[in-house]
Amino acid sequence: MKRAKISVIGAGNVGASCAVWAASKELGDVVLLDIPQAADKTKGKALDLAQCGPVERFDANIVGTSDYTETANSDVVVITAGLPRKPGMSRDDLVQTNVKIVGSVAEEVARHSPDAVLVVVSNPLDAMVYTAWKKSGFPPQRVVGQAGCLDIARYRTFIAMEVGCSVEDISALLMGGHGDDMVPLPRYTSISGIPVTQFIPAERLNEIIGRAKMGGGELVKLMGTSAYYAPASGSIQMVEAIVKDKRRILPCAAYCDKEYGVGGYYVGVPTMLGRNGVERVIEVELDAGERDLFDSSVEHVKELVTLAEGFLNG
Ligand code: APR
Repeated sequence: MKRAKISVIGAGNVGASCAVWAASKELGDVVLLDIPQAADKTKGKALDLAQCGPVERFDANIVGTSDYTETANSDVVVITAGLPRKPGMSRDDLVQTNVKIVGSVAEEVARHSPDAVLVVVSNPLDAMVYTAWKKSGFPPQRVVGQAGCLDIARYRTFIAMEVGCSVEDISALLMGGHGDDMVPLPRYTSISGIPVTQFIPAERLNEIIGRAKMGGGELVKLMGTSAYYAPASGSIQMVEAIVKDKRRILPCAAYCDKEYGVGGYYVGVPTMLGRNGVERVIEVELDAGERDLFDSSVEHVKELVTLAEGFLNG
């Protein structure tokens, strides 16, 4: 069987970590690409990772490059290129710089891998995934943003810490924009099918939700740059669903037009992810309070996209 080809654009903290997860899970061959000024470093990271193969027991060709021809005909391309957040910066502060980077990357990727599924990770995510869609010219189902997988992983981690149980048994759903803007849905959170409220009182759960929302900022403060292990792990969870055509139901930034009445934007919603990208957006029932939170999150996404479009067209 032919191995999947996974390209990761941006070989920085998140990109290199994506390559590590993808290789160690033996999802396919991996191409790491960064700017020409970083060509040697990128080659070095790829070689270093390839040398983990004998110990970690994976077979994969791992290439580091600054040449897009090496990414040709990828099945999946993960876009992590762009600046990370520094302390005191919001994700929105990154718009101007990252819109130009992600826009040019998406054009190159589309030229070399016209049939790929794009997984966008660069922030501010909801605007960057929109930018990648516009610039790639791909159908919206083949461009998807990583946000919810990370936000949910943070939320599940904090719940497991609170209850003292396995992270594996926590199942949760959240929607809306990435991070600070996310819309938690505690009534869709359970531990092995048991509603989470039977383990954690509502007030304490709200505090945990607050921490998950600000989870990115907590790490920026601690590390002086934005997180990378968990963002990469969330991204590779999506890549795995795509290359193995698992049709997993994962929260992703997906294009919604009629869905949830969004009207043509990328927002965090439950999706079914498979070989074709977003196979389906799943519409769950929202009560009035959840709907209000979702609508205001979508408003923020629209503002960000307007800002991004200004820089894209300017
Ligand atoms: N093409 C390819 N790579 C690029 C380009 C470009 N046009 N511009 C910048 N890069 C590369 C940088 O050279 C750098 O190696 O993107 C990489 C970004 O890596 P880091 O600075 O380590 O940032 P990282 O922490 O990986 O975050 C990347 O992911 O989670 C988001 O908010 C985060 O937007 C940020 C992105």
